[in-house]
Amino acid sequence: MKRVEAVVREEKLVDVKDALERLGVLGLTMAPVKGRGRQRGQTYWRGTSSFPSDILPKLKIDVVVKDQDVESVIEAIMKAAWTGDVGDGKIFVSPMQEVVRIRTGERGDVAI
Ligand SMILES: Nc1ncnc2c1ncn2[C@@H]1O[C@H](COP(=O)(O)OP(=O)(O)OP(=O)(O)O)[C@@H](O)[C@H]1O
Ligand SMILES: [Mg+2]
Repeated sequence: MKRVEAVVREEKLVDVKDALERLGVLGLTMAPVKGRGRQRGQTYWRGTSSFPSDILPKLKIDVVVKDQDVESVIEAIMKAAWTGDVGDGKIFVSPMQEVVRIRTGERGDVAI
């Protein structure tokens, strides 16, 4: 199993969610995040804000998928989240050791 974490533009939420659903990927976690990529925007402090202006809001979408589904999930997220402009986001893939479905006690692939 792999964990696929996608940091995408906020307005791409529905497109990404729908693309995942078309692949049968239903379970997901998402959260608003703030971050920075490579572009070094002007950094100044706005009022009492604790975030410099080059730290921008994004959305993180987290899915755990079977190993054999990773490439299709990456491709689907890329297509759905792409605009071609800087700031389209990034996809991080890492190993997922175990998944437990609490209601049934199932583990591994079947618990996803
Ligand atoms: N190396 C990284 N580690 C952790 N988070 C990152 C990293 N790179 C980007 N991010 C996250 O992804 C968001 C979007 O990054 P972004 O798409 O701007 O990356 P980029 O490398 O600058 O690519 P681009 O040149 O297309 O803008 C950032 O706001 C940050 O939350
Ligand atoms: Mg960038």
